Order: sequence, then structure tokens, then C-alpha cells
Amino acid sequence: MNKCLVCAAPIDQFISFGKMPIANGFLKPEEFAKEYFFELRVGFCSQCAMVQLLEQPEREKMFHANYAFFSSTSKFMAEHFKEFAGFVKEKYLKSPDPLVVEIGSNDGIMLRNFANAGIRHLGIEPSENVAQVAMRNGIRTVCSFFDAELAKKIVFEHGQADAFLGANVMCHIPYLHSVAAGIKILLKPKGVLVFEDPYLGDIVQKTSYDQIYDEHAFYFSVASVSNLFAQHGMQVIDVLPQDVHGGSMRYVVAHQGAYSVTEAVEKQRKLEESLGLQRKETFDQLRRNIENSREKLVKLLKEVKRNGKRVVGYAATSKSTTVTNYCGITEELVEFISDTTPIKQGKYSPGTHIPVRPYDEFKKNYPDYALLFGWNHAKEIMSKEQDFVAPGGKWIVYVPEVKVL
Ligand code: SAH
Ligand code: TMP
Ligand code: ZN
Repeated sequence: MNKCLVCAAPIDQFISFGKMPIANGFLKPEEFAKEYFFELRVGFCSQCAMVQLLEQPEREKMFHANYAFFSSTSKFMAEHFKEFAGFVKEKYLKSPDPLVVEIGSNDGIMLRNFANAGIRHLGIEPSENVAQVAMRNGIRTVCSFFDAELAKKIVFEHGQADAFLGANVMCHIPYLHSVAAGIKILLKPKGVLVFEDPYLGDIVQKTSYDQIYDEHAFYFSVASVSNLFAQHGMQVIDVLPQDVHGGSMRYVVAHQGAYSVTEAVEKQRKLEESLGLQRKETFDQLRRNIENSREKLVKLLKEVKRNGKRVVGYAATSKSTTVTNYCGITEELVEFISDTTPIKQGKYSPGTHIPVRPYDEFKKNYPDYALLFGWNHAKEIMSKEQDFVAPGGKWIVYVPEVKVL
């Protein structure tokens, strides 16, 4: 029996996706034989409502000097983080010479907005290759994993922070208590933590099970995040649903009593109750929905194949690793995956070993169907692929349901 990483209560598994490789572990044929696998099992804690992985690879297997994810590959996300930075600046940077600290700052996609405005900032980013891109662009970055020890060092060198930010990183960190303790140390009395992660409510509503992979140790809700920070004398003071990454939530957290709590927090909690996010049965239903989704997608791909049509995957996302491995989708069903990220090209998808090819190859010879692994970027992608669709090219999507568009 596993114990909850947040409250230590015994926790039940509600699904296993079977053996999974590292989601961002795109690899070369000579590495196939040594490929690492773990069991992707997920559980729900009935005591504190936290949904979490029950087994996770060690962090150095995921975040290192060859990390494949560069945030700035999406222009849409760059716009999003400009808005995020503006929100923080306007609402919470009131002191004369404010300091902003961000964890998981990657290539500087968020912090450059503060750097450009001459605001003191510090990025904490353990993956060396992406951290170096940020540093080359003049973003102050420490190449390290964040925890309470590092927080003390930062306070010693730079003083306390007005804002502590994290986008798509808090949910990556299994040792959340050390992170929360570090944030408590690092924040000024009126300082705020503002962070964003894929939202459990969206996963449940859209059956977007591909959000579940090695890097995502937790699947947050307002309820579970409130329970976590309450253990550290902090409270959620505002929540703002976001349209990115297939549905995310932005949480604003402050020292207990430092700010009044907005109505949005209570409203979202009520919504979570109506979605059943605090009930075990909801996750048993989610498992049944996931199994159905797999069945339909595999059936569709096999049918398309039987009719002699070509299918190419669109975007070698981390999420696609869960889908291809769980559904058993190999080169037999999907010819290759088109992707714009140079370090993924010429490599093979984790576990299923589908070739990843440059975007040019998609454009040069359009397939009959494109399986949209980057469904969370659907707007951006579909609007630029008119030339694929006009002569009859079709999209296959699987979130919120399996469909041909
Ligand atoms: N914030 C960016 C990057 C998200 S990817 C965005 O939203 O696009 C997650 C990033 O967090 C990776 O760059 C990874 O190296 C980093 N990371 C992982 N564990 C971390 C930790 N313990 N402390 C700080 N950063 C971490
Ligand atoms: P992610 O979902 O794990 O963030 O990965 C996004 C991947 O999608 C990244 O490798 C780049 C790729 N991509 C494309 O190939 N074409 C596109 O138009 C977009 C938006 C992303
Ligand atoms: Zn718990």
C-alpha cells in the first residue's frame, strides 16, 4: 500500500497504464536496448484529495543537460507568459525594488518579461541546457533543483521575494513539503506564490489522460492545493482558470491572513464538489472513460490503416508518450511523428519507437490523416495547416473524445 506524499494517509490506486518510458526520452536506435521503464500507476488520496503517481523515476532521469523541452518553441505560450508576468507585476509587485523568483524557469520564457522591465529576478532551473539559453539571454539563473535549503541560500544572498512563480513545475516535484517550506521562508510577509499547472477538473471532464506521465507527480485541484499549503501556514487567496495546456489553474497563495480570499476560490471549490473531485468513485469512472477512449482510438486507427490510408502524428509531445504506449500505437499505425523541435528530430518516440521527423516532411507529402498529439495547441496548429486540410487532409483527435475532424 502506498502512502500519500502530502498527508501520509494510505492511498488506493485507481489506474495503471502499464510499463512506461520517460515521456521526454526521445532516443536513438542504439539506445533502445537500454531504455528505462517504470509502471505508471495513479492514486487518489481520500483524506487530502491529492491525485498522484504511485511510482516515479528519479528526478535526474527526467531533468538533465539533454532535457528536450524548450518552453519558447510555442509563440502562443510566450504570449501567455507575458500576460502572466503582467498580472503579477500589476497586482503584487508594490515594493520599491521587488524581487521575483521563478522555479522551472526553463529558457526564460516568463522571466524575460521581468528582466526587460529592469525588475530583479532569479530563475531556478536544474536542466542545464535550457538554463544556459536563459543565461545567454541575460536572465539570472541558478542551475539547481529548488528546495528549502536553496531557499535559505537565496534569502541570504538576495533577501526575501515579493513573488515566487512556477508554471508547469510544482506538479513535477514529489517532495512538495520541502518546496512549500522553502516558499514560506522565501516570501516577504506580503509576498505571494503564483503558480499554474494542468487542472484535475479538466482532466476528469475531458478524459485527457495524456496529462498523466512521469514528470507530473501530482494532479492538483483547489481542494488539494489548499490542504497542502494549510500545513505550512499559507492559504489560497485567488484562483484563475487558464486555457493553456488543455486546461490549467493559476493559484495565488499567501501567508495565512495576509490577504482576503477572493470569491473565486469558494466558487471553484463548489464546482469541484459538483464534479466529485473529492470522491473516489469519480476516479473509478475516469478509469472506465480512459479504457473506452483507448478502445475507440485503436479501432479507428486500425480501420484507417485497413483502408490503406496514411497517418502521421502531429507534434511529438510528452503527452503522446502515454497515449502511444498505453494504446500500443507503433510505426505500423502511425508512419512518423512530425515535430518542430530540432533535438527530437531523427530520434524515435519513447517506448513505441515511432520515428520523429522534421515538420518539412509533413508539408512535403501530406498524409491522409494527422493524429493530433498536440491537441492542447489545436487552435494555433489548425489555423496554420489550411493547406493540409483544403485538399482533404483530416485530423484525428482523442480529447475530449475520439473523433475525425
Ligand atoms: N515553466 C516552463 C517550463 C516547464 S517544464 C513552462 O511552463 O514552459 C518544467 C521545468 O521545471 C523543467 O525545465 C525542469 O527542468 C524544471 N524543474 C524540474 N524540477 C525542478 C525543481 N525541483 N526545481 C526547479 N525546477 C525544476
Ligand atoms: P509539449 O506538449 O510536451 O509541450 O510538446 C510540444 C511539442 O509540439 C514540441 O516538441 C513542439 C511540437 N509542436 C510542433 O511540432 N508544431 C507546432 O505547431 C506546435 C505548436 C508544437
Ligand atoms: Zn493525502
